[in-house]
Amino acid sequence: MTGNRTATVDDQLFVSLGNDLALLFATPLLRRPLPNAAQINPGLRAEVIRRAATEPGVRISNRGGWQSKADLLDWPLPEIAALRTAIVEAVKTMSSLSPELSGRAPGTTQFKAYAWANLNRMHDYNVTHLHPDSHFSGVYYVDAGNAVTGGTIQFTDPRPMARAMPTPGFNFDRVLTVLPASGLMILFPSWLEHWVSPYDGPNERISIAFNCTLK
Ligand SMILES: [Fe+2]
Repeated sequence: MTGNRTATVDDQLFVSLGNDLALLFATPLLRRPLPNAAQINPGLRAEVIRRAATEPGVRISNRGGWQSKADLLDWPLPEIAALRTAIVEAVKTMSSLSPELSGRAPGTTQFKAYAWANLNRMHDYNVTHLHPDSHFSGVYYVDAGNAVTGGTIQFTDPRPMARAMPTPGFNFDRVLTVLPASGLMILFPSWLEHWVSPYDGPNERISIAFNCTLK
């Protein structure tokens, strides 16, 4: 597959189920618990709380809460360096799905990334959005907090025509939820719409979001 629009079903959007069934237009989602989460989360958490108390936040898709400027990957902390490494590894894994990218010599696929922190308290949420001008986007949960049911990231089905013809037993157009967990990193295509349900825990929910653009 070379990125043209006449790809056959034998490309990376085709997932065989091992019999005569397959999934077309599959959407990749990476879910990776970071093995060094226990080492980096306390420092990340303290830094986000410190900055949230002293720096003005920005408002984009967030309703309530505090969002940092998108300069997080430049914060001078060893924990941020570790996070950068984890982002590189996640993008590498995602790229392995692409025959074109995985066929390149090691180190030749480059990307740029930027990140920002989010601190949500009771009732804070993010409206439905996607991440324009980026290829893959991700979230790292520094502290998932202690929500009862809220604070989840919810992905909507990117196939709008599925909504026009509900199919009994299939619900192609349903919303798929990822439950946050401290130390979990997720990565998904930036065009995949999502929102964050209102947080409903007494403690802060802290996450780091990032955008990656392949060169
Ligand atoms: Fe987002």
